[in-house]
Amino acid sequence: MSNLIVGNWKLNPTSLSEAELLIKGVNIPDNDKVEAVFLPPFDYLEELIKKYPNFTWGAQGFHFEDTKNYTWVLVGHSDQRVKLGETDEMVNKKLLAALEDGFNIILAVGEIEKGQDELVVESLKASTKGVSADALNRLNIAYEPVWAISTTEGSDEDTPEHASSVIKELQKILDVRYLYGGSVDSNNIKGFLEKPSISGALVGAASLKPEEFSKILEIASKS
Ligand code: PGA
Repeated sequence: MSNLIVGNWKLNPTSLSEAELLIKGVNIPDNDKVEAVFLPPFDYLEELIKKYPNFTWGAQGFHFEDTKNYTWVLVGHSDQRVKLGETDEMVNKKLLAALEDGFNIILAVGEIEKGQDELVVESLKASTKGVSADALNRLNIAYEPVWAISTTEGSDEDTPEHASSVIKELQKILDVRYLYGGSVDSNNIKGFLEKPSISGALVGAASLKPEEFSKILEIASKS
């Protein structure tokens, strides 16, 4: 299975010209071991798709947009779950709609506090209710412990051992491609990808630095 590396730019950069500088600086290894997907702010997603059709683009959210020139969408990210109060039930509705519309999905799940691993299992079950078996090849699940995300106050790094132990539990529910997310950078990605259960990463802060993100892609293309 190839490694899927997703750059979640969140609300950055703040202008199209900066976004262009960023994407022009990224080097994607030319082999089929790694796939790169970029999730820029929606404001200039369409423009980037038009200008840089050789890159794979996706949206960070799903509900409010009406244009669909992109093929990927992130559903259930903690920014939406925690800050906007999105419930598993809402995530589930979005996920089913996005699958119905033919998107490739990155579905994010993860516990808020350290030590709440069993909640992730419940959240995944509720978020994926009713997903049909023939849609599973378009579903990628990113395990992102919220306490390990760089923007979480007092965030703490997760270990590959812990992440893979949770993902192994999630695999019992759905056997799809699993990514890890939470302060992933070029120093720690190798350890995560060495775990057989982890086949990619959802990268926030480090995806805004073209050299750093290129290094991550390079490592992923050899893992
Ligand atoms: P981070 O963000 O890599 O900056 O921790 C990950 C995410 O929020 O998807």
